[in-house]
This record gives sequence, C-alpha cells and structure tokens, in this order.
Amino acid sequence: MDYQKFVEDQVAYIREMVGNNLAINALSGGVDSSVVTGLGHRAIGNRLKTVFIDSALMRQGEPEGVVKTFADLGIPVQIVDARTEFLNALKGLTDPEEKRNAVTKTFYATVFGKLVRETGAKTLLHGTILTDIEETVAGIKRQHNILVQLGIDPEKEYGYKVLEPLKTLRKDGVREVAKVLRLPAEVTARIPFPGPALATRIVGEVTEERLAVVRAATAIVEEELGTSGAFQYMAILLNDRATGILKGRREFGQIIVVRCINSVDARTATAVELSWEKLHRICERITSIEGVNRCLYDLTPKPPATIEYI
Ligand code: XMP
Repeated sequence: MDYQKFVEDQVAYIREMVGNNLAINALSGGVDSSVVTGLGHRAIGNRLKTVFIDSALMRQGEPEGVVKTFADLGIPVQIVDARTEFLNALKGLTDPEEKRNAVTKTFYATVFGKLVRETGAKTLLHGTILTDIEETVAGIKRQHNILVQLGIDPEKEYGYKVLEPLKTLRKDGVREVAKVLRLPAEVTARIPFPGPALATRIVGEVTEERLAVVRAATAIVEEELGTSGAFQYMAILLNDRATGILKGRREFGQIIVVRCINSVDARTATAVELSWEKLHRICERITSIEGVNRCLYDLTPKPPATIEYI
C-alpha cells in the first residue's frame, strides 16, 4: 500500500466533504485520533477545531503533554474541562459495564455532543479503524455509530457528516500514515491505553481520591517499565484492603496490582518475566504512595484473564 498516496487521497476527501464549513474532532493523544488530527489539519488547517476532553481519568500530565506535542507541530488543541461531568456520572457505580457505559455516554452524549452543537461544526472527524468496525459487526463492541451516540438523528439533522478517514486501515496501517504525517515517537510509539482510561484500572468506585492513587502508581510503572519493550504495562487499584504497618502503627491500606504483558494484538497475552530487582524497585516505590501498603505482580495470561481489570 502506498501510504503517501493514502494521505493525499484522504486530504482531498476531507477538503471536499467539509467544503467551507468547520469540522471538529476529539483528540485523546492515542495513535488513531492523533493521525486523524494530523490528516484533518493538513486538509483544512484551522477550520478543524481539535479538542482534548479532560475527563479526570487521564494519566499524570496527559492533557498538557498532548497539547504540547501538537503545539510543536503547529496544531492548536483546546482542552475542555469535563472533570466534574465524568466524576458525577461515575459516582456510586461499581459494576464494570455500568462504569464503562457511564464514561461512553458522558463523552459522546453530554460533553462532545454539546461541543459539536455549540461550535456549529457541520462535520465530525472520527478515528474509527477497520478493527473497530469488525468488532462492532461481530458484536464485541456495544456501540459504534457515533451519530446515535451523540443523540443526533441523521434524518432530522440532514446534511450532518461524520468522516472516518481511517476506516479501511488496521493499527499497523495507521502507524504508517503517522510516519508519512511525521508525527513524533511520543504519538506513534505509545503503548495502548483504553478509551475509558484510568476508570478501567480501578476496581470498585471511581473517585477523585482513588484516581489520585492509581495515577501516581501508573506514573511509577510507566517510568520503570518504559524501556522494557513490553506490549503494555499498567497499575490497578483493587477494591480491597490489607493490613500493614505505617510508622509503627497498624494500617488497613490499599492494594496496587502491577501488570506487564507481552502480546501481538491484545487478543492473547502473557506476563513478562521481570527481574526481581525491577519488581522490588517497583514495589518499593508503589508502597511509598500514601495509603498503599501492598504491591502485587499479576502473572495471569490472557486467557483466562483479560488485560484490563474491568
Ligand atoms: P482486555 O482487557 O479486553 O483489553 O483484554 C484488550 C486491549 O484493549 C484495550 N482496551 C480498550 N481500548 N477502549 C479502548 O480503546 C476500551 O474500552 C478498552 N478496553 C480495553 C486494553 O488496554 C488492551 O490493550
């Protein structure tokens, strides 16, 4: 496949479809939405409004990091503060599917839907890839039609367009397009990070306090394993407690699980055999987070486990 030509064709297609109007897209910093942002910007410049939705579920420094990466490429990104909306939607929820639903609904229906209407954009650029479509058809993903997710009836809102310029590509193809667009390694070499973000790394209720704990643990794990070459690594906060000792006193503290896996396509995975030295170092750093007194390493392959915990 000639990816240079793919880029030229998609740029022409976006230009033609958007016409003289405005378009909008949501950037998470992941490779798909980053490539769409790059393509869209090449096609229509500042008539593409790119937003980063701060859901309170992102990793340490992530909103600022994504904005800076794109500012360096000459692409302005607006941060939309939606932390309260997401935290309110997640309040009291402990069931994994209910939590995932709440995140999806808040993102598309509440926050992004409102933005689309407010900006008057006539076109949405969306980073759907072929695998997403296949998983929808196979019934693995619950909802793929973004118009429906936005609560927009395409019939009523006639003339409203959703462009999915990556819908014929798989992840490897998207990475090739990223190279043509000269997106930096901090975009293309990123480990997978799920859409519902840190909400998938908290068993039980997602609160600001619990997010702070898992965020701190995630930063440690990503720092320690950044050069491991593993497919994915993460920290998970369990919904359980264990007895420990803090400053000579009994403490009923929190438990963090560390997961580091090898995989080709995330359909199966095996735990990486990290050295005891590395594991001890991670354990020492994680148990120095306030309130955390246990750190466990998960050896379970997928299957029977999944990669994420919810
Ligand atoms: P599981 O937990 O199903 O994860 O073994 C497989 C891969 O998919 C990622 N993942 C997601 N990615 N939205 C995403 O964009 C999601 O809701 C989601 N859930 C899991 C996970 O990180 C792993 O790489």
